[in-house]
Amino acid sequence: MPKVLVSDPIDQAGIDILSQVAQVDVNTGLSAEQLVKIIPDYDALMIRSGTQVTKEIIEAGNSLKIIGRAGVGVDNVDVPAATRKGIVVVNSPEGNTIAAAEHAIAMMLSMSRHIPEANASVKAGKWERNRFIGVEVYKKTLGIVGLGKIGSHLAAAAKAMGMKLLAYDPFISTERAEQLGCRLVELELLMRESDYITLHIPKTPETLHLINAEVLSKMKPTARIINCARGGIIDEAALAEAIKEGKIAGAAIDVYEHEPLEADSPLRNVGQNIVLTPHLGASTAEAQVNVAIDVAEQIRDVLLGLPARSA
Ligand code: NAD
Ligand code: MLT
Repeated sequence: MPKVLVSDPIDQAGIDILSQVAQVDVNTGLSAEQLVKIIPDYDALMIRSGTQVTKEIIEAGNSLKIIGRAGVGVDNVDVPAATRKGIVVVNSPEGNTIAAAEHAIAMMLSMSRHIPEANASVKAGKWERNRFIGVEVYKKTLGIVGLGKIGSHLAAAAKAMGMKLLAYDPFISTERAEQLGCRLVELELLMRESDYITLHIPKTPETLHLINAEVLSKMKPTARIINCARGGIIDEAALAEAIKEGKIAGAAIDVYEHEPLEADSPLRNVGQNIVLTPHLGASTAEAQVNVAIDVAEQIRDVLLGLPARSA
């Protein structure tokens, strides 16, 4: 019987599917060295974003046929190394789209209405109604960077909340943007005119530090930025400085250049104008069932000798 290693927490629905055709070992929190040591025993590896599947792990995986990423981003897998070794890499491109778009909206509203600080204040026994005057998103301009699956779902929700929409995405047509109610513009104009900016692009060499000090300097002092896409797209030191110096009004961040976020990260010392969550964009019950089933079915098919849909 083939063997599957599940090295990040995955919903039981996925484990049940894999168990029909394979021995499934759930072993989370392994170090890179431990993974290199045990991976030769496995025909398939199933992960979320926690496991970094490096070249060394892939090269040690002499029986590996498939790596399944229960989520969208495959930036934690060395895909070229896997391809060279004939290992297919699959993901779940749509299973957590709604969860991630809803998290971006939750972050936008939390930040606008000071929900995290107000919650902490009431729980600390205080009643500070005058301290937490927020702002409305109605009639404000939302700039969406990346009008793919998540960006498009967010556009529809934001439109329903009465927001005006700008979008920057060099790979999307003007017609598609207009269908979604967005005006397609260059990044500089989006940064200058938006009251809220939300990022929904992959992490690639081109998008690394796309939002740097210079780009942040184009934002209005009343504007806020949200990143529920990938850490490293925003330069974190530049962001912390822009908020502290009052150059922008705030930020809501779910993903970080190094995860878990380091204890001495500049983002931890920004104060109340930043909302931080620990990579929760896909963390809904529904999304976790969707991605687990989606990827487990693909792994099962490959183990049965059927063709794969690669990421
Ligand atoms: P998608 O592929 O559907 O959309 C990405 C869009 O970005 C595409 O339209 C593409 O044209 C555009 N794009 C690519 N490079 C660009 C660039 N340099 N500038 C501007 N636009 C560019 O992907 P998606 O499913 O919408 O996911 C978006 C991001 O969200 C991914 O990075 C994914 O990993 C991340 N994500 C995070 C969470 C989370 O837990 N926080 C959950 C799901 C997805
Ligand atoms: C993804 O790319 O799908 C997300 O980051 C979610 C996750 O890591 O589970």
